[in-house]
Amino acid sequence: MTQDPPSEAFHDLLRGVAALTDNAIANDIARLYGKGAPADLSIACNHKQVASKQWLVAALAETLPRPNGPVWVLGAWYGVLGALLLDDPGLTIGEVVSLDIEPACAAVAETLNHRHVAAGRFRAVTADMMSLDFGAQQPAPGLVINTSCEHLADVPGWLATLPAGLPLVLQSNDYVREPDHRSCVPSLAAFRAQAALSEVLFAGERPTKNYTRFMLIGRR
Ligand SMILES: C[S@@+](CC[C@H](N)C(=O)[O-])C[C@H]1O[C@@H](n2cnc3c(N)ncnc32)[C@H](O)[C@@H]1O
Repeated sequence: MTQDPPSEAFHDLLRGVAALTDNAIANDIARLYGKGAPADLSIACNHKQVASKQWLVAALAETLPRPNGPVWVLGAWYGVLGALLLDDPGLTIGEVVSLDIEPACAAVAETLNHRHVAAGRFRAVTADMMSLDFGAQQPAPGLVINTSCEHLADVPGWLATLPAGLPLVLQSNDYVREPDHRSCVPSLAAFRAQAALSEVLFAGERPTKNYTRFMLIGRR
């Protein structure tokens, strides 16, 4: 993953937007960009990515606003969802663990979430979610979020590694044209069948220009 030198004009623009909106996360994104961001930070922070994460935060606030333990975000990329979760007044979350298999993601995620790292509320981990023993984690996760289900080769196989009854938020999509997508689903019904949750608290879909995103909140 290459670190592009920041463009002064673009950095100024981001800082201007942060000042205009008085938004702490916009400020953190501008700060991160100024430190030399990966080329695909603009994708991780684009309006579609942010909207899908805001959708998740709003649905979580309606269903499971106070997880009983750390929130693990899997396939977390640069930690944008963690930033939204920890800043939302409708959620009570003590700690976010932001996990990605790509080693370059952790430092970027911790720089983005520097306020929460300093407060002991955010840490980034490099690991393969397929080989993690969630039942052995101390303290036990209160909620596991995976917005990258479409990237896994075997979604039911991954779900089988999790303790029964664990609260979950899952997102997937029908964007089969993307080469990294290996488990896309054609519909919300197909996603429900793939996930086979023991309890479903929320099931919804959001059409975008090129694909539809699906979300489930419930228990394994
Ligand atoms: C493109 S990103 C995020 C896409 C997702 N739809 C979202 O909006 O959050 C997918 C991430 O999943 C990560 N990933 C893929 N397989 C993984 C695995 N087995 N364990 C942990 N992270 C994984 C990739 O490294 C990448 O950062």
